[in-house]
Amino acid sequence: MRIAVLGGDGFVGWPTALHLSDLGHEIHILDNLSRRWIDTELGVQSLTPMDSIQERCRIWHQLTGRKIHFHLLNLATEYERLKSWLAETRPHAVIHFAEQRAAPYSMKTDRHKVYTVNNNTNATHNLLAALVETGIDAHLVHLGTMGVYGYSSVGAPIPEGYLDVQIDTPSGPREQQILYPTRPGSVYHMTKSLDQILFQFYAQNDGLRITDLHQGIVWGTHTDQTRRHEQLINRFDYDGDYGTVLNRFLIQAAIGYPLTVHGTGGQTRAFIHVQDSVRCIELALKDAPAAGDRVHIFNQMTETHRVRDLAELVAKLTGAEVAYLPNPRKEAEENDLIVRNDQFLALGLKPITLAEGLLSEVVEVARKYAHRIDRSRVPAVSAWTKDLAKRVEHDPEGKRLRSVS
Ligand SMILES: NC(=O)c1ccc[n+]([C@@H]2O[C@H](COP(=O)([O-])OP(=O)(O)OC[C@H]3O[C@@H](n4cnc5c(N)ncnc54)[C@H](O)[C@@H]3O)[C@@H](O)[C@H]2O)c1
Repeated sequence: MRIAVLGGDGFVGWPTALHLSDLGHEIHILDNLSRRWIDTELGVQSLTPMDSIQERCRIWHQLTGRKIHFHLLNLATEYERLKSWLAETRPHAVIHFAEQRAAPYSMKTDRHKVYTVNNNTNATHNLLAALVETGIDAHLVHLGTMGVYGYSSVGAPIPEGYLDVQIDTPSGPREQQILYPTRPGSVYHMTKSLDQILFQFYAQNDGLRITDLHQGIVWGTHTDQTRRHEQLINRFDYDGDYGTVLNRFLIQAAIGYPLTVHGTGGQTRAFIHVQDSVRCIELALKDAPAAGDRVHIFNQMTETHRVRDLAELVAKLTGAEVAYLPNPRKEAEENDLIVRNDQFLALGLKPITLAEGLLSEVVEVARKYAHRIDRSRVPAVSAWTKDLAKRVEHDPEGKRLRSVS
């Protein structure tokens, strides 16, 4: 298949492009490299040294003889270029990763809120409008998030996208399935909730074939392909905005930094290893909806864990200390989470779990590149409200106090 990977320079997009290229597909990456610019804005860098996207593609070609094409394009602002590219290239599938994906970044300031909404909503809508206009019957696979469901403890398992409801009508109760009501916990999650409505409309109005993957928090760094060459290495975020919880614990452990748990650590979240993430995308591509079908929604996660349990597990594995800090996010202190993921299991996914030795692999990668870490960028200091900002802990290591005494 000819596949467009939008956002293919990113943490999940790059290993997906490699995985699908390895399977023999013709891969085109479209990316505006905004994530690299955000690193510059924040004054951080990927823990792992990332080459330019052109260099990464050159190494892959040298190693395998397979070509990955790169196109520099902003999906949110270059509608006409996107449309022309689609019309010329006519991909059979489009995988859409190209959004600003950090909740803390989306909550930093009003400017970051505006950027995230403009970027994500326009990127998705431009793509949908261009697919309709060019008449390309490509299967669109979008990376959404488990966060659209919200994290209230309703007690019932979270279904895959649709909720069975019973509506009282004058002629008696009627059964119906509706999109699971969204309850976004940040501006970023709100944009993913908006995406869902855009997909629902274009599937129903224009017969676009769309799969929306509600992904859990991705952990790990290597996949079978990124391990093959030092210069194919994946990006690995450790900073307080883009680093995700389990990867941050593993990095913190590797550099002797306390594992920073926010609040009681009673938040339960869904997780997936990056290797399973790329495998799920391969499986979703094979299970495309037909024109006229409603949007296919899969929960792309393999296990759930309470944050403090994860911290204790990593502490036990590595001897790290755990630091309980005020929570900069506005969220429930404690929640339960039961999630259905039957569809991927039925398609043949064999989940990689935390127990499989890969935790130590991540710690080893982090130790290897520990010299690239700026410890002052480790704390998560983006606060959800002005009141919460007053309580944020900027110095979990207590360095400032030590230097005064
Ligand atoms: N990483 C996770 O834990 C996780 C969890 C759930 C869902 N997701 C979703 O998966 C997708 C990929 O996540 P990731 O971790 O690889 O993020 P990432 O930030 O590493 O990659 C996103 C890529 O998209 C590009 N991009 C952003 N806006 C663009 C635009 N307007 N035009 C062109 N390119 C643009 C960026 O430059 C970047 O290379 C995101 O949509 C994210 O919401 C990620």
